[in-house]
Amino acid sequence: MRSLFHCPTAMSDVTMLVSQGESILKSKKPGKIIFVCQGCGYQSLKWLGKCPECGEWDSLVEERQGTTMPPGGATSIQQAQPVPIDSVEMDEGKRIKTGIQEFDRVLGGGLVPGSVILVGGDPGIGKSTLMLQILHRLAENKLKVLYISGEESLEQIKLRSDRIGIGSENLWVVSEVALESIRAMADEMVPNAMVIDSIQTVFTHELASAPGSVSQVREATLHLMHLAKQTGIPVFLVGHVTKDGAIAGPRLLEHMVDTVLYFEGEQNNIFRILRAVKNRFGSTNEIGVFEMRDNGLCEVMNPSAIFLSNRPSLVPGSVVTASIEGSRPILLELQALVGRASFGTPRRTVLGVDVNRVSLLVAVMEKKLGFQLMTQDIFVNVTGGVKVDEPAVDLGIVSAIASSFSDKPVREATVVLGEIGLTGEIRGINQVGPRVQEAQKMGFTRCLLPETNLEHIKGIADIETVGVRTISELADLLF
Ligand code: TYD
Ligand code: MG
Repeated sequence: MRSLFHCPTAMSDVTMLVSQGESILKSKKPGKIIFVCQGCGYQSLKWLGKCPECGEWDSLVEERQGTTMPPGGATSIQQAQPVPIDSVEMDEGKRIKTGIQEFDRVLGGGLVPGSVILVGGDPGIGKSTLMLQILHRLAENKLKVLYISGEESLEQIKLRSDRIGIGSENLWVVSEVALESIRAMADEMVPNAMVIDSIQTVFTHELASAPGSVSQVREATLHLMHLAKQTGIPVFLVGHVTKDGAIAGPRLLEHMVDTVLYFEGEQNNIFRILRAVKNRFGSTNEIGVFEMRDNGLCEVMNPSAIFLSNRPSLVPGSVVTASIEGSRPILLELQALVGRASFGTPRRTVLGVDVNRVSLLVAVMEKKLGFQLMTQDIFVNVTGGVKVDEPAVDLGIVSAIASSFSDKPVREATVVLGEIGLTGEIRGINQVGPRVQEAQKMGFTRCLLPETNLEHIKGIADIETVGVRTISELADLLF
């Protein structure tokens, strides 16, 4: 174990003791509390406002020595044996399906035993509701599940369960915050899945800092990780999100767990999107869409219909495009508002798509279409709170801006797809077939798409497909 202070390598422990005092020897016992700089790793016996090593302010965090080892110490670890990769057996059947398709898909096809899943989101977005509903579905499938709440009393949990109409003899609930008790409970009951709501309320008696502090959150997560890996119980950790949108507690938390899901949405909008931002067992492109009703969360099987439900018809600045989210196409409405800038530098406010991408497309429009956008404020939004980061929506963005700028609505029942290059050429996109099919299914009768993609969509009936080669052809086809 490293000593607390830098000492010449040749020094024996005895010389260290003589030269640097008894306190250091004491600190070498596992379980001793030390303060470690999160920037450079400098260690100190007492808290300091500024790290003497790297000069960082407020970077020292309480830690217990020896916590990087699983409980029981190094001797309890069995040495792993390397095996040829071909002989590793995959058992997809081991995944536990929750039966909530939107959730299973985001997880990559169900819950992996022994995995730790962090579910983050703003307060009041519906994390506890989602977790209870998932546990309920598992309980209905005869699995024993445990919901541990550190935020609500049993009565409050019961009230919520009654409201969403759930309850089962296999769904166990407890109001508990002490890590040691949680551990003991899990060991005794051995549930098939458990939820800790929230990780910020859990604390261990071994650290003096308050629940929710960086060291407590990290310690609790570390222990629960070990618990999951040792017992094979999948553990959900609910995490609060700070003002700037990150899960409160150390960033480290996201690195430690297997899967990080964010539950997002506008408070005043009924739609909620579950997004994987990290997944060791599946893709991170998948999203799950839910609707918050009076009686809990409902799966939205057909998100295109939902995202287009409030779309105004035939107004300038609105256009529909199709984006691939994970394995399925979703139709989205892109909106743009272009108006004269009242101050010197025109504004570029963008929600849901990359602002740099929009600037690039605006530059192409100025050069190739001769639009005077330098003097205009431009606002772009993807409705429904969805975020898209694929270039296939370029043509949609340009169409929305062009439509608002020229104050002409895009032709009725038209979907626009395509990537735009810097010379104004429309470039081919991937998975064009499923996108066009989705558009046709949703009642669109006309689709503008890259000419090079035309050959990929033969055989899709009931929708007129129009190939576009350059951005300058767009005006004639759009309006
Ligand atoms: P909750 O799950 O407590 O959110 P979180 O755990 O993320 O803080 O959800 C609380 C919100 O959801 C609250 O504003 C009320 C609303 N809600 C419904 O609209 N319908 C319901 O059936 C439930 C249980 C909650
Ligand atoms: Mg909650």
